[in-house]
Amino acid sequence: MATIAELIYGLNEDLAAEWGTVIRYTYQASKSFGVMGIELREMFAEEIQDELGHAAFLTDAIVDLGGEPTTTPKEFDKPDDLKAMLELDLEMELQDVENYLEHARMAEELGLIELKFKLEEMAADEAGHARELRRILKGL
Ligand SMILES: [Fe+2]
Ligand SMILES: [Fe+2]
Repeated sequence: MATIAELIYGLNEDLAAEWGTVIRYTYQASKSFGVMGIELREMFAEEIQDELGHAAFLTDAIVDLGGEPTTTPKEFDKPDDLKAMLELDLEMELQDVENYLEHARMAEELGLIELKFKLEEMAADEAGHARELRRILKGL
């Protein structure tokens, strides 16, 4: 049985990952050049909005559970090559899906139904980002 403290800890890891993704996508958009870069900048701009929404939700959720939300982003690699960069993004999006599903299960155990469904919805958002990245990688 999960505890509230464990859930808060997990949500803070998710939040650090979201802040990291906002910064990573902002950085990567700036490092995307050429015709492909135009497309990528658009995609990153859209996904940054999703990730900011996730970060805002998690910040509220952690405070409501009695925790202290992190403002420190998770570190990330900075590959030079465009393909390696997108492969890293895909890997990290899939990791986010796993983490949200795990924390949704913990929320369910604790009877936190709104949180459970919202975390599942965020897992679906990240899976959508992963699908988008896979489509781009297929064309590279
Ligand atoms: Fe996100
Ligand atoms: Fe994402």
